[in-house]
Amino acid sequence: MPDQLKDKVAIVTGASSGIGLATVRAFLAEGAKVVGADIKDEEGRALSNELGSSFAYLHCNVMEEADIEALVKATVDRFGKLDIMFNNAGAAGDPASILELTTEGFDRTMALISRSVVLGHKHAGRQMIAQKSGGSIISTASLAAIQGGWSNVSYNMGKHAVAGLVKQATAELAPHGIRCNAIAPGIIPTPAMAAAFGVPKAATEDFLVFVTGEIANQQPIGRTGRSEDIANAAVFFASDASSFVTGQTLAVDGGATTVYQGDFPAVAQEIGNRFISSLAPA
Ligand SMILES: NC(=O)c1ccc[n+]([C@@H]2O[C@H](COP(=O)([O-])OP(=O)(O)OC[C@H]3O[C@@H](n4cnc5c(N)ncnc54)[C@H](O)[C@@H]3O)[C@@H](O)[C@H]2O)c1
Repeated sequence: MPDQLKDKVAIVTGASSGIGLATVRAFLAEGAKVVGADIKDEEGRALSNELGSSFAYLHCNVMEEADIEALVKATVDRFGKLDIMFNNAGAAGDPASILELTTEGFDRTMALISRSVVLGHKHAGRQMIAQKSGGSIISTASLAAIQGGWSNVSYNMGKHAVAGLVKQATAELAPHGIRCNAIAPGIIPTPAMAAAFGVPKAATEDFLVFVTGEIANQQPIGRTGRSEDIANAAVFFASDASSFVTGQTLAVDGGATTVYQGDFPAVAQEIGNRFISSLAPA
């Protein structure tokens, strides 16, 4: 259904790769103007060249509040307003277990995947309230926002915080016509997953093909997710089709969180190790 986001202006963080990149493309295809933000500037600038005048790329480190504030301001300067904020940037964070974590690693992960999301709500919310236009704020959670055991403690807590935040944000922002929802992606083979398993950068693409086959049966639906599956959910939350939906965290995971999965990190790490040991020595 084209033009679901006609005349809307959107920000997507983590736009240079994976879920963010697929969402930039989906929002543009639905008629939105989009500002993509990331710290991978080379990829972002290449996107600007490819995508034309409905898209702009901006460097924004979501760990820095000033960068998020400047991102919202630059979007309004460029496209006149802000209707949709997608707080998506993130990474696996500190892999330490509860027994081994350091406060530094824990705080850094929370700053990346939780604090950045509340700051996205703060600055987008202020702009949307000033416009008196309402809006949609969408954030990327995870299956680690729904169950334990998928990841590490910092990531699990940080993503659970996102699911909590959209409820509090609904209490504070719904009276201004601003809807706040999260998407909990299942297993989506993206560069972040390769990095989380210590795969050398040069082997990322090969790893993603490999892992897509190996982990297919981890979802009842029989395949891993695609970034486009998450982008489709983001279009739903961004569009008026979801105008009565707020405060929700939607699992887009092929059913992964509805059935018992055993020790997923151990299964995934074994697959990652098997892939790395199959690589020829550098
Ligand atoms: N891939 C999965 O299986 C999966 C599952 C659940 C949730 N997620 C979440 O999805 C989101 C997107 O991840 P992805 O899988 O597309 O990974 P990705 O690595 O392909 O993309 C993440 C992007 O975020 C950017 N980023 C990282 N730190 C940043 C910072 N400080 N400031 C600005 N940008 C930054 C990266 O440069 C990258 O372009 C993340 O929040 C991640 O936690 C992913």
